[in-house]
Amino acid sequence: MTLTLKIIIGSTRPGRKGPAVAKWVETLARQHGGFTVELVDLADMELPLLDEPKHPAMKDYQHAHTKRWSEVIEGADAFVFVTPEYDFHAPASLVNALQCLSQEWRYKPAGVVSYGGISGGLRASQVLRGLLNNLNVMAIPQAVPLPLFTEYLGEDGAFNGTEKMAEGATLMFNELMKWAGALQTIRA
Ligand SMILES: Cc1cc2nc3c(=O)[nH]c(=O)nc-3n(C[C@H](O)[C@H](O)[C@H](O)COP(=O)(O)O)c2cc1C
Repeated sequence: MTLTLKIIIGSTRPGRKGPAVAKWVETLARQHGGFTVELVDLADMELPLLDEPKHPAMKDYQHAHTKRWSEVIEGADAFVFVTPEYDFHAPASLVNALQCLSQEWRYKPAGVVSYGGISGGLRASQVLRGLLNNLNVMAIPQAVPLPLFTEYLGEDGAFNGTEKMAEGATLMFNELMKWAGALQTIRA
């Protein structure tokens, strides 16, 4: 059975660079061939700050936007979060999107691709991995930081990472595949 990988664009601000980085990740994921790949843009989900009265673990949602988001995440076997670093942290948009749901994340693996200045967003990546683990997501250690990422943005706005960056992404996909297959057993 094919495994579905959802690549989630974590930033939502106007003028963001997240989609360019995520497109590069998507291309590599399709070349890898181990997954059915879907790109999910948080900006399209239009999630307000948590506005559900019940704890998400109850999965008893009142709002159409939460139900839609729940369906999107329910349909995934693995994730790659593409995250910027804001003030050494993951963006509020992504933290909020994660906390809107609970059961839908459970027993699924995730990789993190972070981008930023010289740190490549590593601090955001680490914070995010901690949160993911608390949601019962297996946040694998094979994260992919993209330091000084703006140097790899072309005039057309496309992100063209180096060979080494692509190698890191391939390693991440390989590990995600193993975890995604194994964790299906727990979910069953
Ligand atoms: C509110 C804010 C905080 C930022 N903080 C950091 C930071 O801590 N580390 C870093 O490397 N870049 C930081 N940056 C620069 C971002 O790496 C850069 O703006 C990047 O394009 C943000 O991703 P986005 O375009 O997808 O929103 C920050 C940018 C913003 C808007």
